[in-house]
Amino acid sequence: MALFGSKTAKIRPTKGLTGTLQFPGDKSISHRYALLGAIAEGASEIHFFSTSADCQSTLSCLKQLGAKIERKDNVVTIQGAGLGGLRPPAQPLNAGNSGSTMRMLGGVLAGQPFRSVMVGDASLSRRPMKRVAEPLARMGARVNLREGGLPPLEIEGGALKPIRYEMPVASAQVKSAVLLAGLFVEGETEVIETVRTRDHTEIALEQMGADIGRHQQTIAVRGRAHLEGKKLYVPGDFSSAAFFIVAGLITPHSSLMLHNVGLNPTRTGILDVLVPMGGRVTVVNLEMMNGELIGNLHVESSTLRGGEIPESAVPGLIDELPVLAVLGTQTEQGLTFRGAAELRVKESDRLAAVAENLRRMGAEVEEFPDGLRVAGRQTLRGAEIDPHDDHRIAMAFAVAGLVARGDTLIKNSACVDISFPDFFPTLAKATE
Ligand code: S3P
Repeated sequence: MALFGSKTAKIRPTKGLTGTLQFPGDKSISHRYALLGAIAEGASEIHFFSTSADCQSTLSCLKQLGAKIERKDNVVTIQGAGLGGLRPPAQPLNAGNSGSTMRMLGGVLAGQPFRSVMVGDASLSRRPMKRVAEPLARMGARVNLREGGLPPLEIEGGALKPIRYEMPVASAQVKSAVLLAGLFVEGETEVIETVRTRDHTEIALEQMGADIGRHQQTIAVRGRAHLEGKKLYVPGDFSSAAFFIVAGLITPHSSLMLHNVGLNPTRTGILDVLVPMGGRVTVVNLEMMNGELIGNLHVESSTLRGGEIPESAVPGLIDELPVLAVLGTQTEQGLTFRGAAELRVKESDRLAAVAENLRRMGAEVEEFPDGLRVAGRQTLRGAEIDPHDDHRIAMAFAVAGLVARGDTLIKNSACVDISFPDFFPTLAKATE
């Protein structure tokens, strides 16, 4: 059970989680629908838009660029300005904590014939932006960063040329930035991925009538095409549901129904790992919505073997690794993953934050430069958790608290607002 209302959340051990749960609209997809809606022709009506603070940052930046946006509950209506309709912002654009906003909006700004500056909070100001600056500059945008390739990100766009870009990092945000910039280019922009990452941008572009082709690892977008605003429905956020998938599996008497969860296969890598380990998760009522798979998940308490997560699986479960590390402590053999150095440049250094907080709970964990090894069959003890202002660390350790001995305190628990403001009430409902 969770007590909230103060900045510190108290998590009590539980015997199990039950009931039917809903999740906020997918954060990744909401960002993309907002960005595309703003440069489409005509109105887009986006239902179940994410309640996250990150997606609000995207809406605020787009408003500063002149986009006409109204939000009524979780329906966001955008009057598209067309490819040439945004106007120079009077102030720096504040992306808050959101790397997705800064990187993907960067692609749109590269196509604008004016100068913009994007800033972020302390965490975002430490995150690498050279990865987007480099391809956008190659397309012809003038891009400036602070020393070390860090924000603020200053972009002056205009006449761009198409490029063929082989991705040096597996990042859907970088891929999306290049594809979005490609919309403003005469000709065909190509992105080649060596490892597949989430493909929500490609799907959204197809849905809105862009000229986009996909062949094996290559994605090609033809610029100056007409994007059409439309009615869109955002699936429930799989990455928010993942905390409850893990919580349901590792607590002893759990049976949870998770409703309307986005099940795009580029996002559900954690299921591909957990089901073969013995995780009892079944998918029911699969359907397609705006080109995205969506369904309900039934999760039951399980005995989990544990093991090693293959490196090739990492991009498909990158945001789930903190909570998977927590799950590892409850498996028979423990859990190891490598090839995840990207976690060091997320909202916090997630490898260090997970290792530190697992140790606070008395767990045995080994930290590598690019991964973690967590021993299995561990008894966690309730502790005070420092989430380092990182929403996914706070939620992962709230889940850990459910199987700990004694109470767990999550400091600065309000940081969950970044992706899942209703996390603690949802947890309280499931543990009633
Ligand atoms: C995201 C891509 C991933 C992920 C982030 C959201 C997206 O980041 O970690 O939470 O919406 O495209 P990278 O592209 O940096 O891997």
